[in-house]
Amino acid sequence: MNESILITGANIGLGKETARQLALKQETKKIILFCRNPAKAEEAKKDLEEKTGKKIFEIVIGDVSDANSVRKAVEKIKGPIDAVVLNAGGMVGKTAAQITPSGMNNLAATNILGHVVLVDELLKQDKLKKVVLFISAEAVPGVKPLGMKPVSMKTSSVDEFAAVLDGSFFGKKFDVTQAYGYVKYVGTMWTLSMARKYPKLKFIVVSPGNTKGTQAPNNLPPPMRFMLKYVMMPIVFPLMGEMVHTLEVGAKRFCDGISDERYKSGVFYASKEDKLSGDMVDQSTFFTDLKNTTFQDNANEAIHHFIN
Ligand SMILES: NC(=O)c1ccc[n+]([C@@H]2O[C@H](COP(=O)([O-])OP(=O)(O)OC[C@H]3O[C@@H](n4cnc5c(N)ncnc54)[C@H](OP(=O)(O)O)[C@@H]3O)[C@@H](O)[C@H]2O)c1
Repeated sequence: MNESILITGANIGLGKETARQLALKQETKKIILFCRNPAKAEEAKKDLEEKTGKKIFEIVIGDVSDANSVRKAVEKIKGPIDAVVLNAGGMVGKTAAQITPSGMNNLAATNILGHVVLVDELLKQDKLKKVVLFISAEAVPGVKPLGMKPVSMKTSSVDEFAAVLDGSFFGKKFDVTQAYGYVKYVGTMWTLSMARKYPKLKFIVVSPGNTKGTQAPNNLPPPMRFMLKYVMMPIVFPLMGEMVHTLEVGAKRFCDGISDERYKSGVFYASKEDKLSGDMVDQSTFFTDLKNTTFQDNANEAIHHFIN
């Protein structure tokens, strides 16, 4: 029973829809919309109140690509939080390769840095009670029919994970569509490492699957955005079977991840092998690097090289 839930990136897309679905559960008493833009956050809060008839939404402003912004935000969080949904992120857009003051590129900082700081600070202040959900993607195990190769690292050492985070792993040509899977992999391995470090809490990873109706396609390079919006989503994916679903279905995966006891701590759940929709399964059954506890801890250590 999660009474209080914090969701990052909750003003739009999957984060906002997750807030809507959770608000309709009887046990939910408080939902914190953790957003970077106050005007967008207020608009989302108003819309969620209208749609759910509930006045249980609070706003906390913070930028997950900036560790200090997140630290300041945590000071404003009153009382314990049962569940945290680390949702903000995606492919970020044109600034993905830019190096942030932390030393991580913006893609990694947005998807990982602030989320790790948020969890570390909540734990330090004893404000986190039950569940942490990290949002990953099928880009990690890859999707063969779409030519998406699985993440493949040479040594999975601390240095190699750090190279993904500062971008040097990708050499001179930074392709955000490739880097995205590697960044989500580092965040996934951090979560699995934390699951072993904090056995009394549930640390779980879920991919929403290929979800329509979010802002995500707008962050893709223009030719790819066009292909996805006008060819793949409406024509190709529906023909392939179990390749695309609605916003409601994508967000329900997050709600199930934090509330349903079938989904266990220390596991990355996403679509069946080479699928992007349908039932969620344990990804380590076919992407076995996820089981390697040394790799998991190396990812955790590498991330903390960028956090003072
Ligand atoms: N859509 C899919 O098919 C899909 C598939 C696999 C995984 N995912 C993952 O699901 C999550 C949600 O994606 P989505 O499709 O719902 O994306 P979206 O519609 O683009 O929403 C992203 C949210 O993250 C927020 N955000 C971005 N950078 C931020 C920052 N630095 N600080 C605070 N908030 C920030 C955005 O806020 P602003 O409005 O202020 O920009 C927005 O609220 C992401 O982690 C994504 O990688 C999505």
